Amino acid sequence: MSFDALYPIFLVGASGVGKTSLIIKYVDDVFNLDLKSNVGIDYITKDVSVEEEEIRLQIWDTAGQEKFQISISSFSIYKNAKAFIIVFDLTNEDSLQEVYNYLLEINNSYKSDILIVLVGNKCDLENQFENLEEKIKEISNEKEFKLFKTSAKEKINVNELFYYIAKTLK
Ligand code: GTP
Repeated sequence: MSFDALYPIFLVGASGVGKTSLIIKYVDDVFNLDLKSNVGIDYITKDVSVEEEEIRLQIWDTAGQEKFQISISSFSIYKNAKAFIIVFDLTNEDSLQEVYNYLLEINNSYKSDILIVLVGNKCDLENQFENLEEKIKEISNEKEFKLFKTSAKEKINVNELFYYIAKTLK
């Protein structure tokens, strides 16, 4: 199937926050499923229509955060990145603190026009921590980032997240 644009996007974030779950929920049984293994990280593609254009999202799932610290600046696959989705777990405040490290790493490696979206996953769970917006302001140095609260389990804001990215990059 033909497409008008191809956008590589990368999900990063602490272990266990739900990166793989979000991707699988989004792509399961629909459009192209094209799984490849490359230097320990995989991608799946999904086509999405945005205002009469076919956008192919090449969605990269990263694993092992320590590897990531090295890989983002040295792996050539990252160099075509159009967007980063930094995922944290709404029930695990430590995973939000790690967002700060990913922001630093991305800012050190990319021009400022790279799209960065923050995702607080597991919004279906009760035990969420408090003052989320304030804490995000602190770690992002007051810089504004789009935030989605998602649940891969209950498919809340999953399509909306990826559609937002496709539409913003278009
Ligand atoms: P790594 O591969 O270790 O980096 O983890 P990951 O970020 O890919 O997380 P993964 O998708 O493997 O999910 C970790 C655990 O969280 C699994 O047990 C999932 O079932 C669970 N999980 C993921 N998303 C959600 C969610 O939205 N709600 C709930 N309740 N559990 C979730």
